[in-house]
This record gives sequence, structure tokens and C-alpha cells, in this order.
Amino acid sequence: MRILLLGGDGYLGWATAMYLSHQGDEVTVVYNYFRRRACLELDCEPLFPVPNLHRRAALWEAGSGFKVKVQIGDACDYPFLQDIFRRFQPEAVVHYAEQPAAPYSMMGHKEAIFTLTNNLVSTANVIHAVKATNLDCHLVKLGTMGVYGTPNIDIEEGYLEVEHKGRKHTCLYPKAPGSLYHLTKAQDGDMLYFYCRIWGIRVTDLNQGPVYGIDTDESRQDDRLAPIFNYDDIFGTVLNRFLVQAVAGIPLTVYGQGGQTRGYLNIRDTLACVELALRHPANPGQYRVFNQFAETFSVNDLAKKVQDAGRDLGLEVRIQTIPNPRQEAEQHYYQPVHTGLLSLGLEPHYLDKPILQEMLLKVAQSRERIRRELIMPRVHWEVK
Ligand SMILES: NC(=O)c1ccc[n+]([C@@H]2O[C@H](COP(=O)([O-])OP(=O)(O)OC[C@H]3O[C@@H](n4cnc5c(N)ncnc54)[C@H](O)[C@@H]3O)[C@@H](O)[C@H]2O)c1
Repeated sequence: MRILLLGGDGYLGWATAMYLSHQGDEVTVVYNYFRRRACLELDCEPLFPVPNLHRRAALWEAGSGFKVKVQIGDACDYPFLQDIFRRFQPEAVVHYAEQPAAPYSMMGHKEAIFTLTNNLVSTANVIHAVKATNLDCHLVKLGTMGVYGTPNIDIEEGYLEVEHKGRKHTCLYPKAPGSLYHLTKAQDGDMLYFYCRIWGIRVTDLNQGPVYGIDTDESRQDDRLAPIFNYDDIFGTVLNRFLVQAVAGIPLTVYGQGGQTRGYLNIRDTLACVELALRHPANPGQYRVFNQFAETFSVNDLAKKVQDAGRDLGLEVRIQTIPNPRQEAEQHYYQPVHTGLLSLGLEPHYLDKPILQEMLLKVAQSRERIRRELIMPRVHWEVK
């Protein structure tokens, strides 16, 4: 399949590019260096050094024989994007090219406007490029479970059947995002649903939970092919941060009561889910939504698991409750459905002790690169 991968240098993007090219797909990645620049500006670079995208692609090709084509540019630049669609003629496009960090989106006006503009304009551009070049091209967009918030009823996959005054209707599941970043994901989902109905484009929205993991089968070939791995308060995701804190001897930073429960998945499962969506495309005019995660944990559950896994490796892992910088329910009902990808054949990896210990040992190899000042949260949701 000819697959255009937008945001192909990121934590998930580069791993996906290698994985799909290894499956025999023809992959072109688009990247604008936003994430790397933001990490430089905020002085929070990833734990492992990462060669630039051209060098990664060359290393991958030399080691594996599989090619990933690189195009440097911005998905918000419509002439650039349309030109790539015209030249490459993708059968499917995977849209990762968004600003993905909730704390970044809540930092201030500049970051808020960037997040809104980048995430919505890039999505609108992809939709228009699909319409201008090939309406049949399947658009797979990464969404987030965070669009739903934490309602006091079960979370369905994208849609809710409602009975109102004796009549029934199926509507998009109500959204209650908890950060501006999550709001843009709710908005771009609405935009995709709109164009599915109006123009008949075919879309899969993958509402993904927080991802953890350092290695994939492809990245194991060469350390320099590892995913970008942030552990700071802005771009790091919770479990990845806990692993680094455990190795550095920093108490695990549980925000508030720690009852915040979410659906988590291994980075390998992200690759499998995206592949399943690509191989089983949505129908023309269909806005298909999958909830993409393997299992749910509270923040306290995660902290205890890391503590337990660390103990056997001789790490004395402490857990500390700190004031929650976000505004979110710290104890709540959480029952999301996630049967769609399982029914397509997903075989998830579960977060067991060997997986945790493998990740802890990998982080420990770079122990001396860990910067303790990147751990505590700097961005607060509350108006002071
Ligand atoms: N990592 C997670 O836990 C997680 C969870 C849920 C959803 N997601 C979603 O998955 C996608 C990928 O996430 P990630 O963790 O790999 O983030 P990432 O920041 O590592 O990757 C996104 C990449 O896209 C690039 N990019 C952003 N805007 C662009 C633009 N306009 N043009 C070209 N490139 C652009 C960034 O520079 C970055 O390299 C995002 O949409 C994110 O919201 C991630």
C-alpha cells in the first residue's frame, strides 16, 4: 500500500514508518521539526540521542533494506501538502502531525494558538488534499481517549444511541476534553465527521490512550532507531516518566489522589492498531471510531507496578503525592468499550513485570543523561 505518514519523526511516527515499510508498504513521511525545535526551546530534550530524520531513514535502509522516503515540510502548508499528494498518490494517509502535549497547549497564549492552528489546519489540509487528489484515499487520524473526559456512564466507541422523548437517534458520543490539546482532538474529529457526511471521504479516528514503551522490533536493530523518548513534564507521558523517575531515585510524581484512570497501550500495539485500521479501511462516507488501548489503570496502579518491578532490580522506588497541576476528577467511574480493534484481530501486549523491568533496564543504561530538573510540573491549568 502507498502510505503517507504525517508527523513521521515523532515518538509514534518513526516507529510506524519502520514497521509499515518492513511489512512491504511504500512509505513517505512528512515532518516539520516542530517537536524537536520545541524540545530545544523548552530545554527538555529526549533521554536517548536521536539522529535527524534523514539519517534515521538512511540507517534503517542500510540495516534492513527497507526504504522510508522523507519530505521535510509542514502539513499546514497546503501547496506543499497537495504537491506531495499529487506526486505520491497515497492510498492511505496516517495523520500524526499534531501538537500532542496537553501541558504545552496550556502554557500560554502563544502555545494555545499554535496548538489550535496546527492541529485544526493540518487536519483541514489533509481533508482538502484527499478531496483534490483521490476521494478514495483512507484517512487514519490519531485521536485520543481524552476527548471523552470521565463521564459517569460507559464510554462507547465514538457514538451513543440516545432515546429522547420516545424517539431514538445515534449521535457522536458527547465530548468533555480536559485540556486545549484534547479539545483540538474533539474538534478535528467533528470536522472529519462533517466531511465524511458532506464529501463522502473515508476516515478512521483512533481514540488512543497514553502510550508507553521504548523499543519496537524494528528499533532493536540499532539503538539510533529508537523512538523519541521524553520524560519531562511537557512531552513525557505518565508511565515513561515514572520509569525514568524510578531509575533516577526520584519519588514517582502522582498528581493528586492518583485515582485518575485511563486506557494504556504498548507502543507495539499502536503500530498493530494503525496497521489493522489501514488493512480494513472505513467505507466511503464512514467516520469510524475505535477506542485504542489495551487495559485501564489508575495512576496509583501504575506507580505501584513500577515500584514492584523496580524492587526486584534493586531500585528503591518511592511514591509521592504532589498537588495536581491539571483540573480533572481524581476519583471517578471509567468503563470504556474497546472491542473494535480486538474484533479486527488485535492481540495486545499487557503491562506485566518483565515488560516493566525490560524498560527500566533500558532507561538505566542512560541513567547519567537524566536531568532531575525536568521532572516537576511547571504548567498549571488553574488561573492564579
Ligand atoms: N503518545 C501518546 O501517548 C499519544 C496518545 C494519544 C494520542 N496521540 C496522538 O498520536 C499522534 C502522534 O503522537 P506522538 O506521541 O508521536 O507525538 P510526537 O510529537 O512525537 O509526533 C508528532 C510529530 O508530528 C510533527 N508535526 C506536528 N505538526 C506538524 C505539522 N504541521 N507538519 C508536519 N509535522 C508536524 C511533530 O514535529 C512530531 O514529530 C499525535 O496526534 C498525538 O496527539 C499520542
